[in-house]
Amino acid sequence: MKTVFSGIQPSGTLTIGNYLGAMKHFPTLQEENNTYFCIVDEHAITVPQDRLELRQNIRSLAALYIACGIDPEKSTLFIQSEVPAHTQLGWILQCVAYIGELERMTQFKDKSFKQGKEGVSAGLLTYPPLMASDILLYGTDVVPVGDDQKQHLELTRNLAQRFNSKYNDIFTIPEISVSQVGARIMSLQDPTKKMSKSDDNEKGFISMLDDEKQIEKKIKSAVTDSEGIVQYDAENKPGISNLLTIYSSFSGESVDAIEQRYKGKGYGDFKGDLAKVVQEAMRPIQERYYALMESDELDEILDHGAEKANQDAMKILRKAKKAVGLGRVKKKR
Ligand code: TYM
Repeated sequence: MKTVFSGIQPSGTLTIGNYLGAMKHFPTLQEENNTYFCIVDEHAITVPQDRLELRQNIRSLAALYIACGIDPEKSTLFIQSEVPAHTQLGWILQCVAYIGELERMTQFKDKSFKQGKEGVSAGLLTYPPLMASDILLYGTDVVPVGDDQKQHLELTRNLAQRFNSKYNDIFTIPEISVSQVGARIMSLQDPTKKMSKSDDNEKGFISMLDDEKQIEKKIKSAVTDSEGIVQYDAENKPGISNLLTIYSSFSGESVDAIEQRYKGKGYGDFKGDLAKVVQEAMRPIQERYYALMESDELDEILDHGAEKANQDAMKILRKAKKAVGLGRVKKKR
């Protein structure tokens, strides 16, 4: 049995990008593995957050995990800040990481380029060692994520290897698992940019809680090209290619089969059908979500998850602290 870990930031309502790239794959994994799914709220505060909204988003993300099929009897579902071992090992790993390699992370470079180094928090720089800590604390073998997390995963592996050879061989070196279709869903308004829940332009993303009208409107106004041919060509037709990827990921049909069906038809027909595919996939998830948000179940599930995660994480944290020499030598009597 393998150990699987993944995390999602509660920094806004999830998009169908988060769903197709990550969440959709989680329920199957819990059948045969030891699975941990985390609401990484400490990662979320590396950029400014509204306190009340953040708390609401944390609860909402917990409900979405379950609505998508996470079974708390099979998986450990928990909130990162309720397991202090994450920041404790995160600190140790910050001391193993080099400033240079952290500054080379694309996500840090993008954000600090936009706002300047005086405008971003130090937490944004030290985000990857905290992410490494999330993963390494549970002896994780596999990390299912979208394509944009590859670089962070590579760094996690490097930090684990460096720690193991410098101190003691205690960390499992995790593998990344990226799905073949849907690992990089692009913005509907600028298909050269990834779809993101923090996009200022709401038309760029479909949120998992958008209602049927919003879904239809956003798909109909998605940027395409003037050719009118439903064909996958990521380089020259990024807009329609992205919509084909979304269609294929939701329906399970191959891109080829979809292209064949829309031969000779225009973008209007294709977009109309795609809207229906997305609406149908989201409907049962949204129903479960709203029922859960009304119920008292969530707190119990999260309490139980935190308890289990705390117990499990302490084992590796203890070993890591000992390996670097933290704590005291007890006097022998
Ligand atoms: P986050 O919260 O940005 O995204 C959560 C998951 O969704 C994937 N994803 C996408 N997949 C396809 N297309 C997109 N447009 C898209 N946007 C996001 C992400 O790749 C991710 O799998 N650093 C992580 C959170 C994290 C984590 C961890 C993940 C913290 N600790 C430990 C795994 C293991 C992040 O910001 O994901």
